[in-house]
Amino acid sequence: MAEVVILPDREAAGMLAAGAIAELVARKPDAVLGVATGSTPLPVYRALTRLRLDLSRIRAFALDEYVGLPLEHPQSYHSVIEREVTAPLGLEPAQVAVPGDGPIEAASEDYERAIAAAGGVDLQLLGIGTDGHIGFNEPGSSLASRTRIKTLTEQTRRDNARFFAAVDDVPRHCITQGLGTIREARHLVLLAFGDEKADALAAAVEGPVTASLPGSVIQLHPRVTVLVDEAAGSRLVHADYYRYVYANKPDWQRL
Ligand code: GLP
Repeated sequence: MAEVVILPDREAAGMLAAGAIAELVARKPDAVLGVATGSTPLPVYRALTRLRLDLSRIRAFALDEYVGLPLEHPQSYHSVIEREVTAPLGLEPAQVAVPGDGPIEAASEDYERAIAAAGGVDLQLLGIGTDGHIGFNEPGSSLASRTRIKTLTEQTRRDNARFFAAVDDVPRHCITQGLGTIREARHLVLLAFGDEKADALAAAVEGPVTASLPGSVIQLHPRVTVLVDEAAGSRLVHADYYRYVYANKPDWQRL
């Protein structure tokens, strides 16, 4: 079972996730982090920046990128990761990888090889889309999928239109780590905030494991932490049990 922690707000969730990263880096200074885009992980990056850790030896791999957007476009995930992760954390650009570099035909396999060469991801931050996607693995994605080009759903394009002038400016394609790739990370930390995520989150944590709800793949992973605010956790059937478990968590047990 995933460890589900229901928190008063996203800043508290950000601090918990940043604390888990701090412990990991203390244990393993050359840890490999999996970073995500979207608004959800921002409190984690803010909290991590405040901790002022020595991150000079870590590596980071982003989950996904639009295809068909110049890499220097302000909403490309190359730009977003540079703005929200690389710069504030004081990382060197070479420490941080985002898929989609080079010829698109080779980009997926190149990215898989780079993750493997770095020794795999130690801790993967994840958000979840309102349609249940993680990374850009839209409903129907194989639970064994690897990094590849995907077509975005209209729902995702509408959700992400807020970052663009108009929904028509949102690319139709993307490159994303597959669900099989994400599952190989040693610790998954899924965050969700706000009422609009409540259904997708409950389905991912408590619903059937199905390609129709890609986030449900977390149930096949041995080490998952789910950090939610009250609104995103409001449709969890076993919320009382998760609260009870967390309130009675032994001191020796880390996240
Ligand atoms: C985006 C990203 C995902 C992200 C999700 C939720 O499309 N590709 O990695 O988790 O959708 O976004 P947000 O955190 O802004 O709600």
